[in-house]
Amino acid sequence: MAFQTLCKQRYLGEGEAVPFLLDGHEVLVIWPDGGQPRAFTGLCPHERQSLVNNSQFNGRTLTCTVHGWVFDGRNGEGLRPEGCALDEYPLRLTDDGQVEIDLQAQV
Ligand code: FES
Repeated sequence: MAFQTLCKQRYLGEGEAVPFLLDGHEVLVIWPDGGQPRAFTGLCPHERQSLVNNSQFNGRTLTCTVHGWVFDGRNGEGLRPEGCALDEYPLRLTDDGQVEIDLQAQV
């Protein structure tokens, strides 16, 4: 595990998806309504297009606007179509208000 600082917790908001570029990796932190923030790679599993530049989040589902694939914001699993998922990175919130991510590991 090699956690590094991603941002301060106050930059994240429930019901929002926040994009980051860290060490050359596109990352999307999704905090669904009523859930917890989780970090996913910012690449669509369909044709590896950027979700940082081509997605919409409505608080529950993330839609890739390139071809319309839809993902569950709670866990990154594909809803339309099923059988796919966003790759996830370990994410943790620290007691001093930081958000940390491990880009070398996959959940
Ligand atoms: S690249 Fe995302 S749906 Fe095709």
